[in-house]
Amino acid sequence: MKAIIDRTAISYDTFGDRRRIGVLLIHGFPLTGDMWMPVVERLGGEFALVVPDLRGFGRSQLAPDDDPQMPISIARYADDMAALLDLMGEDRSMVVVGLSMGGYVAFELWRRSADRIRGLVLADTRADADSPVKQRERREAIDQVLAQGTRAVADAMAPKLFSPRAAPELRATWRARMAALDRHGVAAALRAMAGRADSTSTLSTITCPALVVVGEDDEVTPVAEARRMQQAIALSRLDVIAGAGHLPPIEQPDAFARSLREFIRSV
Ligand code: MLT
Repeated sequence: MKAIIDRTAISYDTFGDRRRIGVLLIHGFPLTGDMWMPVVERLGGEFALVVPDLRGFGRSQLAPDDDPQMPISIARYADDMAALLDLMGEDRSMVVVGLSMGGYVAFELWRRSADRIRGLVLADTRADADSPVKQRERREAIDQVLAQGTRAVADAMAPKLFSPRAAPELRATWRARMAALDRHGVAAALRAMAGRADSTSTLSTITCPALVVVGEDDEVTPVAEARRMQQAIALSRLDVIAGAGHLPPIEQPDAFARSLREFIRSV
């Protein structure tokens, strides 16, 4: 399905009975809503799932045809999510699940419209902003992606995404999917992440129930990071997913879906 937001076509899918608890699943970088499909297979019968592609990813346009240089930020992705729920007529509060970059978007959504959120799931993400070194790396990655295509980022990310025990075919499949993404969408997201707000002070403002979940072998956003976040959020719990790296929904979908199901049922 497509929603027109800021004159931009944003693609999304819905699964499950709309009368059930609504769950918005926000993907990480450089991925698309497809990363949630193993979770959809497991939870689609129990909840009303909304799975968008952030602008510039998958089937979503990056910017309107008449404004191709529209500035993209994490805040804009969050505004898109709020606008999407409005367009869907979704006026109930939702469980919002953000993985990694999706977590950055979820923090922003919390700051902008906490009343829309009945439960927050921060999966394999971090609260702090980019360091100057990280920002420089992002700028270099932007130059590389624009000059050489997305394969450069896919090659850099693929080895970091999965646990050392992951099947080589899994890495190969996801590397190919990442490499097929639009270079301008990927460059815009790198710029957005480099410029994102620090969410450390937001943690103590999170008053809804929260699940912090992380793969035990996540080297992008390690368990220690997740533990620090969880300790700063009042009504929270931490689940560590065994045998998973940065993408537990793909690598250990049963365990991830179990953790999510228990949390959603509890909110
Ligand atoms: C992600 O998985 O979304 C990214 O690794 C996040 C980041 O690069 O900060």
